[in-house]
Amino acid sequence: MTKDEKGIELMARPEMTRFRGYSACKSSETISQKLGIPVNKVVKLDANENNYGPSPKVGKALSSLDSYHIYPDAAQTELRDMLAKYVGMPCEQIVAGAGSDQLIDLIIKLFAAPGEEIINLVPSFAMYRFYGELNGATMVEVPRDADFRVDTIAVKYAITSKTKLIFLANPNNPTGTLTSSQNMISLLETGLPLVVDEAYYEFTGESAVPLMKDYPNLMVLRTFSKWSGLAGLRVGYGIFPPAIANYLHGIRDPYNVNVAALVAVRESLKDIDYLMGNVKKIVTERSRFADELTKINWLKVYPSKSNFILCDVLEGNARQLQQELEDQGILVRYYSEPRLMNCIRFSVGKPGEDDILIDALKKAGR
Ligand SMILES: Cc1ncc(COP(=O)(O)O)c(C=O)c1O
Repeated sequence: MTKDEKGIELMARPEMTRFRGYSACKSSETISQKLGIPVNKVVKLDANENNYGPSPKVGKALSSLDSYHIYPDAAQTELRDMLAKYVGMPCEQIVAGAGSDQLIDLIIKLFAAPGEEIINLVPSFAMYRFYGELNGATMVEVPRDADFRVDTIAVKYAITSKTKLIFLANPNNPTGTLTSSQNMISLLETGLPLVVDEAYYEFTGESAVPLMKDYPNLMVLRTFSKWSGLAGLRVGYGIFPPAIANYLHGIRDPYNVNVAALVAVRESLKDIDYLMGNVKKIVTERSRFADELTKINWLKVYPSKSNFILCDVLEGNARQLQQELEDQGILVRYYSEPRLMNCIRFSVGKPGEDDILIDALKKAGR
């Protein structure tokens, strides 16, 4: 390289090198190494995973899988067929992704060109902003009300000729709030494409899918990360109007869902009763856990319809509390954005795990 040539790092797009969109959770392995404790002693309550894990059928089937050397079916034929049966919608309307995260990215690419606007009902799932900004779109934040309900009037005021998409997580992450069907219909009546992200659907049983027959601007996202314990295999899916499903198939990576994920979905859908038994345990534990958290007088506990609980830390600093817990091998998530200033979110774990957290919180005092 001559002295006039630029170093390779200067050739990268500046808007990408500056991008710091998402602060991901630390892995249990990282914490185990840092603290010198076994991985299975780390209490992981930071990423809304399912601590009961997958169906035992998944591991069994994967141990005899002999097609790791073959690319997955680019048409997603069997996968879409299984998902169609599970959802009760035609397979022409289903698109699967490497996690629903990938579908968020693809939907944004399909609808919002750089400089166009996406309405984000904040506080909400951080990946909408991540992919919106990464794709050059402008995120228009419409704050939820004091109870984290969607302000549909404010949404109408926020719409401009550049608005291309609205994202609604239902129940919302990280607040756990469910949106009423009346408010959802108000959003649909704007005529704008609306993504209802039902990552936690199985914990509520409430879905927007039945509205799809009346609203061709509705798209619904789901995932296997939460209810069926497959977060590590990255498999999500969406239900779309047929033309939109076709466009998404056209722009997705042809082999986006790997062969192990396909097997895991197949086995999970054979074991729905077992998995929904775990979902039921989590929902039962959620109310016990919330009751215990409520007894800690420096926490304000928000009601949740999901597999996590958001709390306001009324005394002391949430960031510091998160660090104190991490130093004991307990992983939780804290927030410092405007509507979540000094908030902390706990995934609902197994009762024993939640008890370890409760004890640590009691000892932390304030
Ligand atoms: C609202 C919401 N949507 C999507 C996702 C991502 O799911 P996946 O693991 O399928 O990418 C999450 C994960 O936390 C979430 O909370």
